[in-house]
Amino acid sequence: MAEFKEAPAGASAAQKLMTWVDNRFPATKLYKEHMSEYYAPKNFNFWYFFGSLAALVLVIQIVTGIFLVMHYKPDAGLAFASVEYIMRDVPWGWLVRYMHSTGASAFFIVVYLHMFRGMIYGSYRKPRELIWIFGCLIFLCLMAEAFFGYLLPWGQMSYWGAQVIVNLFAAVPFIGPDLALLIRGDYVVGDATLNRFFSFHVIAVPLVLVGLVAAHIMALHEVGSNNPDGVEIKAKKDANGIPLDGIPFHPYYTIHDIFGVSVFLLVFSAIIFFAPELGGYFLEYNNFIPADPMKTPAHIAPVWYFTPYYSMLRATTDPMVNVIAVLVGLGALGAAFLGGLKGMAKWGTLAAAVVGIALLKTFDAKFWGVVVMGGAVVILFFLPWLDHSPVKSIRYRPTWHKYLYGVFVVFFVVLGYLGIKPPSDVGTLVSQAGTIFYFGFFLLMPWWSRIGEFKPVPDRVTFQPH
Ligand code: HEM
Repeated sequence: MAEFKEAPAGASAAQKLMTWVDNRFPATKLYKEHMSEYYAPKNFNFWYFFGSLAALVLVIQIVTGIFLVMHYKPDAGLAFASVEYIMRDVPWGWLVRYMHSTGASAFFIVVYLHMFRGMIYGSYRKPRELIWIFGCLIFLCLMAEAFFGYLLPWGQMSYWGAQVIVNLFAAVPFIGPDLALLIRGDYVVGDATLNRFFSFHVIAVPLVLVGLVAAHIMALHEVGSNNPDGVEIKAKKDANGIPLDGIPFHPYYTIHDIFGVSVFLLVFSAIIFFAPELGGYFLEYNNFIPADPMKTPAHIAPVWYFTPYYSMLRATTDPMVNVIAVLVGLGALGAAFLGGLKGMAKWGTLAAAVVGIALLKTFDAKFWGVVVMGGAVVILFFLPWLDHSPVKSIRYRPTWHKYLYGVFVVFFVVLGYLGIKPPSDVGTLVSQAGTIFYFGFFLLMPWWSRIGEFKPVPDRVTFQPH
């Protein structure tokens, strides 16, 4: 046990109370480690707002969720009406519900921007791999959380969206149909499904999410933040061991973040008060019709934040599987004969490609669509090991790298747009091109990230006070 400290002579009652607490709980120690003596690089820009904004949205979702649960009924016969009751009769119920529904979309906007920041500044690279991996797990949880939550209002889109997505699991070879049954708890989406989704949405997933966010921040504070220059500030310290380019998180970044929070809340409130459905993107119009198992809507589309992946699923048609088989073959031949592979590695790569092509032709396109959709998220976990660029930040990379990231963003947005729209021939072709680009971007990264003329990285961060 640590020695008990005494409050200094003449200490105020508050100081005495703090000493009493500190002798029993590391309050001051934690405050110093994570706030007043956590030294963050002084050159953070607006991209660094999105971490604290994600934390804010998490709190908004949990608090509004607690109040929604007080009036919501997780019963297939009552759910839809209970949401209408919240909207019309519960005092301020409409506000709480709109905060929660807008919060879901805001969460994804903020998290997508937060992830993109990580990508352009190479924040996932050594020693921050675990921060990134915890982040990817958070992203998976967030998707699960949004998917489970979307069933709860028990509207047409809730019902049929869940039906489509759960049926995807039925495409898994051998265990698929049983797996889909296990998820639904019934042969069709029904009351049993609603009850289990409710349980996952209100307690299981949020618990994991909050735990992962804590791990994410602990990992971040263990190694320290990256910054827009990708320069390690811990490499240059003063005589007291404080990074020369670091400033205390509190008060500098608490104030900085309050500015970000204010701008965010302005936009967030504008949407809630003036356009809570946001033209059908945040709340789909079909979801104002109660779930009807006897009537399939003409067009079923997930909410916008899932649609880039949904497009990839729809892009995986039989001809696309053939294209993938050809690309796998060409990739293996290229790696084996042009990439300098020798001996076992060479023959192993070729054998793996033959097995891969055989598998591609064995199972149907629907299954591969599911694999492509899942793979699009799983591939993110490997980013720290795919990027072989000699510098972290996009600032010091060859200019064409910036364009490549630009095309990546354009394709991601286009995939998202096409996923909202009903399928069309041209749309399918474009999504196929987008899917190939998306996977090519990551899978070929070990090769392209090394090519080009890199700019010299400065010793210290660049910073212009204003
Ligand atoms: C609930 C969701 C999340 C919360 C609350 C959250 C919170 C934070 C906070 C507060 C920071 C420090 C401030 C900042 O750098 O902006 C941070 C940094 C970071 N986050 Fe997240 N995050 C979330 C999701 C994610 C996701 C999904 C990823 C990636 C897949 C991710 C990757 C990172 C990385 C790489 C850093 C270090 C950035 C740097 O030092 O440059 N985070 N996060």
